[in-house]
Parts: sequence; structure tokens; C-alpha cells
Amino acid sequence: AVVTFVSHDGETHEAALVEGQSLMQVATDNAVPGIDGDCGGETACGTCHVIVDPQWSDVVGLSGADEEEMLAMNPERQPTSRLSCQMVGSEEWDGLVVRTPEFQL
Ligand code: FES
Repeated sequence: AVVTFVSHDGETHEAALVEGQSLMQVATDNAVPGIDGDCGGETACGTCHVIVDPQWSDVVGLSGADEEEMLAMNPERQPTSRLSCQMVGSEEWDGLVVRTPEFQL
């Protein structure tokens, strides 16, 4: 399954999803710009923020309560914002498109 990361200036980066691995892990393994993942996936840094393409929101789901705490502080927060470290990859996500914000916290 392939996921596309679109940066705020429209640059795209594709990466292969790994089933059971978080989207943040996939992004950092593939050196996708704009995803830092500073806390290593502990829902504590907010530097893995992505904005899910609204068409995909039903498939990948909305943020959970623990993600909300970090996202609430984020000025670039959108209705479909997620912390990518909390998005565990699935084969069903083939073709997923997420945007990365202009600034990570
Ligand atoms: Fe820190 Fe996701 S990697 S919140």
C-alpha cells in the first residue's frame, strides 16, 4: 500500500505503508519532510501532525482523545487532523493522501 504525503507547498512524497507500523514511522523511515516525530510516538510532541485528505477521513478515522490534547494547541489544526504516530498502517489505506502542515510544533 502506498501513501502520499503532500507538503504545504504542494510537493509530494510517496512511501510504502508497512502494515502494523505507524504512519509517523513510515514517514521518518522514508525521510518525508515535515514529519519529525520527536517523542517517538508517545502522543507527547505533536511534531507528527498530518491533515488527512477529507475523502480518507472515514477510512482512517478521526483523532482520539489523547491526540486531541496535542492537536488543540496547534494553530494549523484542521477538522481531519491526526497525529500520524497514532495511525497504524493498514492494507486498506492504499492510495491514502495526507498533507503535512507548514510548521510542526
Ligand atoms: Fe510525538 Fe506523534 S511522534 S506525538
